[in-house]
Amino acid sequence: MPKLSVLFVCLGNICRSPLAEAAFREEAKRIGLAIEIDSAGTGGWHAGEPPDRRAIATARKHGVDISNHRARKVTADDFRCFTHIVGLDFENLADLQRLRPRDATADLSLLLDHVPDRSGEAVSDPWYGDMSDFEVTWNDVSVGAKALAAELALA
Ligand code: 4NP
Repeated sequence: MPKLSVLFVCLGNICRSPLAEAAFREEAKRIGLAIEIDSAGTGGWHAGEPPDRRAIATARKHGVDISNHRARKVTADDFRCFTHIVGLDFENLADLQRLRPRDATADLSLLLDHVPDRSGEAVSDPWYGDMSDFEVTWNDVSVGAKALAAELALA
């Protein structure tokens, strides 16, 4: 069992966090980091659904198949089981802080806070956009995934 585990969290778990999970999975594999990786949403409206077809197409374009992912809502146990929980935007982080049980052990952070020159920025939400917006999101999560993986490799 890897000693590190990371859960990426957005609102619906059908666009940003499955892309962050995919980018991080690729980066962890590339650098040989043994880590458990998952993603979830702060809301459960899309629970059980595959990712948005635009997210699937964007991941596929970058060589990753996320079509088997199924959305789920973050649970209280996630805060005790994962060592790191990473929100994609400010609202996700605020919701995570609100949902956090008293005995939570997970470290909570914002993905782009791990990137020195993007600190304090949110990963852009492509939900109301087109494929070019999904490409911007892919770039954001890739930069964040690289920085976070490098940081955790030293942990
Ligand atoms: P995600 O995107 O949080 O990146 O998965 C969204 C998914 C669904 C909705 C909004 C954003 N929605 O309003 O249903």
